[in-house]
Amino acid sequence: MQMTKIYTKNDIRKAALELKMGELVAFPTETVYGLGADATNEKAVKRVYLAKGRPSDNPLIVTVSSIEMVERFVGEISTDAKKLMENFWPGSLTIILNIIPGSLSETVTGGLKTAAFRMPKNQVTLDLISELDRPLVGPSANSSGKPSPTTAEHVFHDLEGKISGIVDDGPTTVGVESTIIDMSTDIPTILRPGAVTPEDLEEILGKTVISDKHKVKDKETPKAPGMKYKHYAPNAQVLIVKDNDWQEALKFAQENKDEIALLATEDILKNAKIKLKYSLGKDEKSAAKNLFAGLRYFDDMPQVKYILAKEFVYDGLGMAYMNRLKKSAGNQFFNVDLVEN
Ligand code: TXA
Ligand code: MG
Repeated sequence: MQMTKIYTKNDIRKAALELKMGELVAFPTETVYGLGADATNEKAVKRVYLAKGRPSDNPLIVTVSSIEMVERFVGEISTDAKKLMENFWPGSLTIILNIIPGSLSETVTGGLKTAAFRMPKNQVTLDLISELDRPLVGPSANSSGKPSPTTAEHVFHDLEGKISGIVDDGPTTVGVESTIIDMSTDIPTILRPGAVTPEDLEEILGKTVISDKHKVKDKETPKAPGMKYKHYAPNAQVLIVKDNDWQEALKFAQENKDEIALLATEDILKNAKIKLKYSLGKDEKSAAKNLFAGLRYFDDMPQVKYILAKEFVYDGLGMAYMNRLKKSAGNQFFNVDLVEN
């Protein structure tokens, strides 16, 4: 056990020193908080897996503060990848690229010939990485399997005693993790939906990208290794509620008041005479921002058996939100049969 310190933007030097010594420091981004370690320090990177309880074949994102930092591991960057960096960085896009063999350890890459690079839109973190002058590995700073952290408090809850510090820069603004695009193959392929949409990417690249939306038939989209694991799971069972089912869902909730919690937009909550509720705000943008905090909120209430959560249209941030929500629910939808039983 170690004392986990809370840093502010004025403590960048101190936090960078800890990282230099091989310690773990969580850092803010616009998506979710990341768990930082010097990506070139093998021992430190190994501790990241231990602290999170993360399976060791699940590679880590390499978080950089400049394009030059990517070139150290990749060599010359392709024209298309460069275009993406220039248009979307700093921002919510992670880019998979082939790396110079041996330039990053297998612990970082999971033994792949590629690595995932990301430049987050958070000045404190960019300053921290520049101060260190080395990239940070940056998986989400949660215990493996739990919803990703969107506040420093979430990180503290999961990792207190296991990491040296947390740089607190308030709640994150996007709320779901970055879009991952694989640029190591001939056809750019989206491995994880996020705030940067397929349309945004196609516009800049001037060509089609493969995503769940226009998936090539008979050819499964290759997934990020981490996608196969249980993810984002709160203590209660999440049930996704389709728009047409809310009336039945609210009835079910009324009848089982102590056991059912609602995770929905203001318009739905305003008429619900239910105490256990968490607001997603008004639209898919606020829903993406609030989703993980909402899932975590009910973890402190052991009586809650089900969380009824709102479905959104699978488009833009709604796509990113639904991708996370479906995993947290193990793909379970609310079903009117529940009310009858
Ligand atoms: O927004 C984000 O991306 C956040 C913040 C902290 O930057 N980070 C994040 O990291 O979500 P993590 O480790 O929770 O998710 C990264 C995903 C994992 O599913 C991992 O399998 C995949 O990226 N990944 C990493 N390297 C890869 C590679 N070389 N090829 C394919 N997938 C890769
Ligand atoms: Mg994660």
